[in-house]
Amino acid sequence: MQAVSSSGPMGEFQGKRVLITGSAGGLGRAFVEAFVAAGARVILADIDAPGMARAADELAPGAACITYDQGDLASIAALAEAAGPVDILLNNAAFLLVKPVLDTTPEEMGKILRVNLLGPIALARAVAEGMIARGEGGVILNMSSQLAFCGAEGRALYAVAKAGITQFTQTAAVEWTPKGVRVVGIAPGRINTAMTTYLRGDAAMQAAGIARVPAGRYGTPGEIARIVQFLCSPAADYVVGQTLLADGGYVLG
Ligand SMILES: NC(=O)c1ccc[n+]([C@@H]2O[C@H](COP(=O)([O-])OP(=O)(O)OC[C@H]3O[C@@H](n4cnc5c(N)ncnc54)[C@H](O)[C@@H]3O)[C@@H](O)[C@H]2O)c1
Repeated sequence: MQAVSSSGPMGEFQGKRVLITGSAGGLGRAFVEAFVAAGARVILADIDAPGMARAADELAPGAACITYDQGDLASIAALAEAAGPVDILLNNAAFLLVKPVLDTTPEEMGKILRVNLLGPIALARAVAEGMIARGEGGVILNMSSQLAFCGAEGRALYAVAKAGITQFTQTAAVEWTPKGVRVVGIAPGRINTAMTTYLRGDAAMQAAGIARVPAGRYGTPGEIARIVQFLCSPAADYVVGQTLLADGGYVLG
């Protein structure tokens, strides 16, 4: 494992074992970078093995990288087993399906609900079981989206999955907080990552999208990482079951 700096305001992650799913991609990569800088021992997990290896090489040399498919319950169980003891789970991996409901096939519906809803629930459950059994406590942060809180034209099944994750965060918090596992969520607005590349090709669409955000801009992976660190830190110990909207005010419009 790489020697990492513990300097900075979030030194409380020194030595913490942080499992980060979706760590080959935009937000997950930013979480790897931020938690390594705060002294954590990160474990990367993703379906994209080469992308994950690149992220580890650049940001966390020597960190464990576990390839898994979040649409496959056996693969999720194997991930939880291979990751070993975990202090913090950033339950972040997902994919976006852009399609009107009327055009979405039953197979596509099944896949997005398996990967984006059932998979994260199964992983949280497996990790929570270990945390509870060890009796050392832990934090599980589930990745929702602003689209869980408003109409999501063309992204209905994705939004349904995120709304389900938001509800799961509440219920898991009620069940697991008394056992020492704190569960919280974050619901970012639009962030420039690979997931939103399709929106950036069209300048008019991009401008119209930004015009809907009271903050007048999209968010950045780095600022979401800092909010995630706050939510996972002891400073947020009394935040239980909440999903924090970090959307520049988008859903208020
Ligand atoms: N980018 C945004 O605007 C935005 C907004 C709100 C919420 N989110 C959420 O943030 C999280 C990260 O998104 P991102 O923007 O970094 O997207 P991204 O596409 O850059 O990264 C997603 C990562 O998840 C991985 N992944 C996808 N399917 C998987 C599977 N079946 N098994 C394992 N890993 C899989 C991908 O390989 C990728 O590395 C997602 O949950 C997304 O829904 C993103």
